[in-house]
Amino acid sequence: MSDLLARHRAVMPNWMALYYNEPIEIVSGKGNRVVDADGKSYLDFFAGILTNMIGYDVPEVREAVERQLATGVVHTSTLYLLRTQVELAEKIARLSGIPDAKVFFTNSGTEANETALLLATYARGSDQVLAMRQSYHGRSFGAISVTSNRAWKNNSLSPLNVHFLHGADRHLTQFRGMSDADYIAACVDDLRHVLATAVAGNVAALIAEPVQGVGGFTAAPDGLFAAYKEVLDEEGILFVSDEVQTGWGRTGSAFFGIQNHGVTPDMMTFAKGLGNGFAVGGVVARGDLMDGLPAIGVSTFGGNPISMAAANATLDYVLDHDLQSNAARTGDILISGLREAAGRLAVVGDVRGRGLMFAVDLVDPATGAPAPALAARFMEETKKLGLLAGKGGLYGSTLRMAPPLTITEDEAREGLGILVTALETVDDEAR
Ligand SMILES: Cc1ncc(COP(=O)(O)O)c(C=O)c1O
Repeated sequence: MSDLLARHRAVMPNWMALYYNEPIEIVSGKGNRVVDADGKSYLDFFAGILTNMIGYDVPEVREAVERQLATGVVHTSTLYLLRTQVELAEKIARLSGIPDAKVFFTNSGTEANETALLLATYARGSDQVLAMRQSYHGRSFGAISVTSNRAWKNNSLSPLNVHFLHGADRHLTQFRGMSDADYIAACVDDLRHVLATAVAGNVAALIAEPVQGVGGFTAAPDGLFAAYKEVLDEEGILFVSDEVQTGWGRTGSAFFGIQNHGVTPDMMTFAKGLGNGFAVGGVVARGDLMDGLPAIGVSTFGGNPISMAAANATLDYVLDHDLQSNAARTGDILISGLREAAGRLAVVGDVRGRGLMFAVDLVDPATGAPAPALAARFMEETKKLGLLAGKGGLYGSTLRMAPPLTITEDEAREGLGILVTALETVDDEAR
């Protein structure tokens, strides 16, 4: 065991998982590659969990942060006007498509979701919330209560009454083989049944990830959330889209993931990629909902001048370079390449994804059961070949890939080659 790993084990929580049998320490990065403490270089296909959205050492971001540092001010609090907060809020409000939108900045996705849940429960005078099975929304009590993945739930204490809906679980026996339309109809039926049987009085909101991140990049078929929204609208139930992983063009086909469903939500939450590694999250919501809270609120560090400098520069970069189109183009190369390879790989149960958010399920070739051990093998193999991938899903058997939106077509082909080689090795060994 390395000295640093031993020290880590001694003072860090054991539930804070590390990747790899021999975990690596990343010491530098440039473009879409990082280097570890042993000098080994990796093409980064997980981007610090979708957070280094435009890669490493981006001059535009570095210089924006350095300019702010040079003013001598890294914090003022929101008791004073913050020009860069206003500028970023204007951009996000415009991009959201939400009418009369207002923005509140936080430090994380968890806090963003807490804020959205507070706004929704207050506006509707209700502590009842709907969420999706297999979801992940963060690590606080409120966020855990709308999370539906036992591996990530420490307890069942909840400030909310939560009911979980179908929609990203068509692998279940009762839905298998259904067309999109039939599955959507079955899910809507179930939503109506939940509203008729499991709740009392007003329901505050549905919170949903357009593509489930921790859940293994599982997604509802396009149109499901539009169908849900029709039912929710009948009762004035609000719709919160958790865009922490799906925002800023990552899915290629839309700027925010929920737009793939033709839905304008009442609120969206965001974090991860917006600051390209600097801590920033937030909620963009209908102005009346945002203004509806009766008490004063503040986030001491939320939207601080350093994270605002980074986030403005990152968002401008994404828009100026049309990285959404790049995500669509490079994502197609990767997803179609993986699908082609899957045909000859018995260990691959499913390839799915959209843009630069794609996943492979590994299964036992004999039984078709989820195979977390094979996923762990794949991780070691891609590490050896110089590529960082992610792992997740309800059964720990899903490989998750989400490179920076800046990857080139050449890097996409290089990465595809490594992914397929690693899958072939795992496949050979498993037969
Ligand atoms: C969809 C989603 N929502 C919320 C969160 C929580 O964000 P944070 O870890 O910044 O609190 C995450 C983190 O992985 C996420 O994937």
